[in-house]
Amino acid sequence: MFEALVAQPPDALLGLIKAYNSDSRAKKVDLGVGVYRDADGNTPVLKAVKAAETILLETQDSKKYLGPEGDIGFTTRLEPIVFGARHRLAGRLAALQTPGGTGALRLGAELLHAARPGTKVHLGAPTWPNHAPIFRAAGLAIETHPFADLATQAVDFDGVRAGLARAAPGDVVLLHGCCHNPTGIDFSRTQWEEIAATLAARKLVPFIDLAYQGLGDGLEEDAWATRLVLDAVDEALVAYSCDKNFGLYRDRVGALTVIARDAREAATTATNLAALARVAWSMPPDHGAAAVRIVLERPDLVAMWRAELDVMRGRINANRAALADADPGLAFIRDQRGLFSNLAMTKAQSQALSGRHAIYCTGSGRINVAGMQPGDAGAIVAALRAEGCL
Ligand code: LMR
Repeated sequence: MFEALVAQPPDALLGLIKAYNSDSRAKKVDLGVGVYRDADGNTPVLKAVKAAETILLETQDSKKYLGPEGDIGFTTRLEPIVFGARHRLAGRLAALQTPGGTGALRLGAELLHAARPGTKVHLGAPTWPNHAPIFRAAGLAIETHPFADLATQAVDFDGVRAGLARAAPGDVVLLHGCCHNPTGIDFSRTQWEEIAATLAARKLVPFIDLAYQGLGDGLEEDAWATRLVLDAVDEALVAYSCDKNFGLYRDRVGALTVIARDAREAATTATNLAALARVAWSMPPDHGAAAVRIVLERPDLVAMWRAELDVMRGRINANRAALADADPGLAFIRDQRGLFSNLAMTKAQSQALSGRHAIYCTGSGRINVAGMQPGDAGAIVAALRAEGCL
């Protein structure tokens, strides 16, 4: 059986974690995997989450199965955060808890394949390297169009327009709701408005990946584009992650919401999601989602979580300003949002950054600005200059 298998290369991003951990140099900078770090380089459990976990520990009286939908209180409490307090989608939503945003993307892909086998998904390049493999693994077809030009650090909107013009009615378009991974470049309001109108006019189905809400400009601000698109279209999917904004990375907390045309289609979709989850993971792990639900049920914990989110966002944007101030060639980083920016560099240059300077970023030049500690900007800029990246 297994003799037919071909060895797979380790995942490049996860490999970076190992490489960084095994580097014994006293001073090293981890700009690799997308994890928030505080000024001391730690990724602590949020206080609001700790408080919710304490309540959970004291009050949970059973670990019996919940069902393939997971914690319905969790998905219900997320709704106003994502779609707005006065959203008009009631009755058209089919939502279920998933193991992280990745689980939501994969389950959404499985649903698309069940609804229309071989559906084509349009991806802007560059995008998170796991997007295409997830969709392909579910049997979907991929077509890419340019999204951003790293030389100019700007959206290639002609490329996006051309990509959407090639799409056929019923095709799916993957969109980053905010804090684009890997570039930190988001569409402007005018561009989002044009995209929403094009999706609606051409009957394209948006699949929005919303993994960093609150880490760009604020909870409401970061959901603006998602809400605009959902107002314009009849059908959509939203893959949500609480990994970053609740700091729950390894607990894998996410949700998939499908927006259907009407209540009947939403109900049928919900049965399909439950059936697909049953054969994938049966039911999602409970702990992290239960902690998020408890935070969202209690105004005191919501206030604590929002304050912690403000601190994280403030630090990310201060790191952006520090890099932009350190070299005019990095000025664009100030206006980008979320954990990432993508510098134009070769793989050899990124290897030289880690090999010679103990500064770790991905082979494609993505840096996690939340990985910097105070005072790192100078060393990063010096290393980038030394390796010809600036
Ligand atoms: C990242 O892009 O670094 C994160 O989303 C972690 C991951 O799973 O790739």
